[in-house]
Amino acid sequence: MEYSISITRREERAVTDTKTVPFGKVPTEHMFIAEYKNGTWSGARIAPFHDIVLSPLALCLHYGQTVFEGMKAFVTDDGKINIFRLDKHYDRFCKSLDRMCMPRVPENLFREAMHQLVSLDGDWIPTEEDGSLYIRPFMIASEGRIGVKVADEYMFMIVCSPAYQYYANPLKVKVETHFVRAAEGGTGAAKCGGNYGGAYFPTQLAREEGFDQILWTDAKNHEFIEESGTMNAMFYIDDTLITPALSGTILDGVTRDSLVGIAKDKGIKVEERAISLKELVAACESGKKVEAFGAGTAAVIAPIESFNIEGKSYNCYTGKDAMMYKLKDWLTEIRKGIVEDTHKWNYIL
Ligand code: COI
Repeated sequence: MEYSISITRREERAVTDTKTVPFGKVPTEHMFIAEYKNGTWSGARIAPFHDIVLSPLALCLHYGQTVFEGMKAFVTDDGKINIFRLDKHYDRFCKSLDRMCMPRVPENLFREAMHQLVSLDGDWIPTEEDGSLYIRPFMIASEGRIGVKVADEYMFMIVCSPAYQYYANPLKVKVETHFVRAAEGGTGAAKCGGNYGGAYFPTQLAREEGFDQILWTDAKNHEFIEESGTMNAMFYIDDTLITPALSGTILDGVTRDSLVGIAKDKGIKVEERAISLKELVAACESGKKVEAFGAGTAAVIAPIESFNIEGKSYNCYTGKDAMMYKLKDWLTEIRKGIVEDTHKWNYIL
């Protein structure tokens, strides 16, 4: 089915200096919106960014039937706009929607909406180092009803915001051995709102103790690393890139997947497997250089300078020659169109 998207433009630009505003605080001029009712999507439109009207009974507000994605667009070295890994984000969006009993957005509608919106607000994309346009597609259950039920009505929207570095400095993380992000069979692999809301309280406690983020461990015995706050967890030890395997309890991170692909291209040994706290501690105590970092769309690569397990801190290597910085540079080169996009990850407008 073809979807026609109507466009209402806003001519004036409200904000010009975006560099000084915190991540995600300033939306671009326009947004995309479409509604789902009686089994079909309609009303697809791009309009000036605006507040939405929602019934106080909207099911998303009570039972958390919400799913989102986080994507980025870049200006390439030759001045074109590149939406990075559109297809992989769309696939993950669909998987999250399935898990939350929400209708899939047809691929052509997702692609066309993204294409048109990012083209329209393309002049918001920062071209400086670490600059990008953060794109947030999301869906909410909009049907108004108090009872616990799968909604029959939804809104799919896309908003954008200029983005720079998400974390300004290397992180001190607390290895969480009490609270749990996700258990086997739960929603850990879905990008649904509840996963983030449930992390607020433990994260706040960690902040009060002087940490920047949490490094989650498995729900059964708190023995193995899961993911970190808003990112996947990755390690570089003994010339090997190690990251927890996609077990169903962690997010299938697009940056994680990209870094694994790039590392393999470069001939670096990659292991996607369970990583125990014991293994990490042993590596640190043996004097090895242990690199630890978070990988995510917003964060890109966030170096971890130390991790703390029940009061004991272990330092990680963050020297200038660390592998994580090379991985970040290689990723940037692809996204900026500086090197050949051999994996076909770029969607050039
Ligand atoms: C992302 O990295 O895109 C995320 O969704 C993390 C965060 C901003 C919620």
